Amino acid sequence: MHSLHSPNFIYFYTMAIQRFQGSSVQLDFGPLTESSFPQKLAQFSAQKILILVDENTQQHCLEYLLTSFEQLAHAEVIVLPPGEETKSIDYALQLWELLTDYEVSKKDLLICLGGGVVSDLGAFVASTYKRGLNCILLPTSLLAMIDAAIGGKNGIDFKGYKNLIGTIQQPDYIYMDPGFLHSLPWPEYLSGLGEGLKHSLISGLDLWQHYKNDVAFAIENKQQLSTALLWELIQVKINIVEQDPFEIGVRQVLNLGHTLGHAFEARCMESEPIAHGVAVAWGLAYEAQIAQAQGLLDQDAAQELFDFVRANYSALPEIAQDAMGLVPFLNQDKKNQDNRWRYAALKSPGSYLLNQSFDLAQLKAVLKS
Ligand code: GLY
Repeated sequence: MHSLHSPNFIYFYTMAIQRFQGSSVQLDFGPLTESSFPQKLAQFSAQKILILVDENTQQHCLEYLLTSFEQLAHAEVIVLPPGEETKSIDYALQLWELLTDYEVSKKDLLICLGGGVVSDLGAFVASTYKRGLNCILLPTSLLAMIDAAIGGKNGIDFKGYKNLIGTIQQPDYIYMDPGFLHSLPWPEYLSGLGEGLKHSLISGLDLWQHYKNDVAFAIENKQQLSTALLWELIQVKINIVEQDPFEIGVRQVLNLGHTLGHAFEARCMESEPIAHGVAVAWGLAYEAQIAQAQGLLDQDAAQELFDFVRANYSALPEIAQDAMGLVPFLNQDKKNQDNRWRYAALKSPGSYLLNQSFDLAQLKAVLKS
């Protein structure tokens, strides 16, 4: 059996997000074997249980699951190739076909064991198959724990554009076992820290200062963050999604760094792929420069953030620094309104303005500087 080093604690949280079926979403954070997971498995009247993994979680996380929970001993395991390219209509189609061929019913259960790609794609397929198959998310990466698994945004990339097709549908349960993070390769962990950076900036000066120091130490020593800090970062997302599950208002702040971040990531995808969290970290740094140029954020704060990203992340590939090359991707951004590119502008840690816009000249200026 795979040995996971779970800390001895469990936080249990029921998110006040109503699912369409009328119940709210439960999230457990702590060792899976001490959570309500086995009881929940028993409560489903599922005839068939399917576990979606990628090759990495198949190797590092699956055995622990299969050997710890007898209800899963005979589950069907579906293995995806790892990586963002799997988040595609081709794989969604194959999964819909497979569910149909297995005669999976709405009462059956799909468990997504993996990072953001597995949970985005798996939960998208679950939310669309027979208009909603039972779905449990077991995020195994830092990025999925901090961000992707919380809030019901499911989807796939399409025609080279990020998350173009998708749904907002909450899963039935989310179980986060930080023990899974011990099998995560360091570059993946570093990518997750990019979303953590966003959450610390959204939260306010205290968490940003704390995060900045802890991350600098973590990176220098290749050491993971404390579970207490991890839980704080997770709560930032939970609090926002609870207020605005369908992104009508405040949830838009979770797009901080993502207008440029998605454009950087998509632009580099073919030739020099960069991890999502790395693209987001640079998106945060450059969007802060735009906010500063627009007089919204003071220069010291923008520079501090830029220096932090430059010190801790590898340089942004040259092709991502060419403004014209980013234009097609920015033109497909879901937030665009009135033919204007939109972004959430940081005013100071903990304070922001939603639905701000910027233009090509402003983008060119910050990328050049
Ligand atoms: N990842 C942004 C959101 O969930 O709203």
